[in-house]
Amino acid sequence: MRVEPVAALEGHVAVPGDKSVSHRAVLVGAICEGPTEISGFGRSADTEATVAAMRALGAEVVEHDIDTLTVHGVGLRGLREPDAPVDCRNAGTLMRLLPGILVGQQGRFELVGDESLSARPMERIAEPLRRMGARIETTDGHAPLVVEGGRVAPIDYALPVASAQVKSAVLLAGLYAEGAETTVVEPVPTRDHTERMLERAGARVERGPKSVSIHPATRLELGGIEVPGDFSSAAPLLVAAAIVPGSDVTVHGVGLNPGRTGLLDVLERMGARVAVFNRRSVAGEPVGDVQVQSSELVGARVTAAEVPSLVDELPLFAVAASHARGESIVLGAGELRVKESNRIESVVEELRRIGAHIRATPDGFRIRGVPARLRGGVVHSHGDHRLAMVGAVAGIASREGVDLEGAEAVEVSFPGFYDLLGQLERA
Ligand code: S3P
Repeated sequence: MRVEPVAALEGHVAVPGDKSVSHRAVLVGAICEGPTEISGFGRSADTEATVAAMRALGAEVVEHDIDTLTVHGVGLRGLREPDAPVDCRNAGTLMRLLPGILVGQQGRFELVGDESLSARPMERIAEPLRRMGARIETTDGHAPLVVEGGRVAPIDYALPVASAQVKSAVLLAGLYAEGAETTVVEPVPTRDHTERMLERAGARVERGPKSVSIHPATRLELGGIEVPGDFSSAAPLLVAAAIVPGSDVTVHGVGLNPGRTGLLDVLERMGARVAVFNRRSVAGEPVGDVQVQSSELVGARVTAAEVPSLVDELPLFAVAASHARGESIVLGAGELRVKESNRIESVVEELRRIGAHIRATPDGFRIRGVPARLRGGVVHSHGDHRLAMVGAVAGIASREGVDLEGAEAVEVSFPGFYDLLGQLERA
């Protein structure tokens, strides 16, 4: 796909529903009593994998239109063993959260994924679930996974990595762990969508500054859930507005869960002009309208403690930092090596190719920014949706444009991305 440089970006848009919340709404809706009406569902290849998985496991899902679904819950223990393996495709959230539910069902469940997902670490969920007494096997630490449902017992678990997916798997299993509460202690706070949703569904959740406990449940009921706009889908538009001179973009109805919005804090430190309007709460999640206007940026330091709050936006931070005066550094982000691609190596390789001064470190990257447009050239997505968005943002902000290879990877999280970006372009 050819991405031409643009003069500026201008306008007001909304982005599709949050991917993390959409996955959780379908997963939790399936184990609720009665129907859960989901509006603002973020339809993408990833979330469709979750719909297909829960159907295969016996939950009826009715699709009214592109972003409105009804999930007919089968109750906490009502899922059934499917005839074929559950295909999680590229969806890490599905593969890591679903076993937390399957440990409480009757039957044997096999979970498979695509090539990228099959290369990602899965022992991180299997290990705590096994400690709870679950029978779960990985294939040399990876997918395919096999879960045999049965009884589980509560645990106190200190997360070895700051991961919302691992935390969520343990909390979901905690719903089935009779006798006492299950506690997860986090090294650094991560997104808490699971906690918020389970609380809404009637689970007893107790929260400390760095820990969360869940009591075993007898029934859950969500009723309805409105999914806020995906901050991670707004992020490429906001970064593009920050770096393309003369830009002024507002994204409306964006989820502003503090576990997700680290990029806004970092952009502000870089001197970006960021404003948030109409702060409100939607289905237990904070939401607002975010405006970014272009300005001269300076380099910034991202520390390990803030990494989880912008983990999926670090590739975009690298683009912003390449356009900012001076040095930028990301520390403590080794997790990027085990995302949909090795995002330390893929970001460094691709941004270098188009003229950025960036180098990899074991747990992040260092960038020497120049407040000018990058040259442009060829960018490969590595089959990674976030990398494809990086290529598009870097391309519109470049001098010569970008030939984006593997542009279709955006289907994984944001199928309408290029059209929306195009709507903001001022020739
Ligand atoms: C997610 C958590 C994060 C994030 C991923 C979605 C979630 O992963 O990178 O895109 O929905 O819980 P980790 O838990 O591996 O950090």
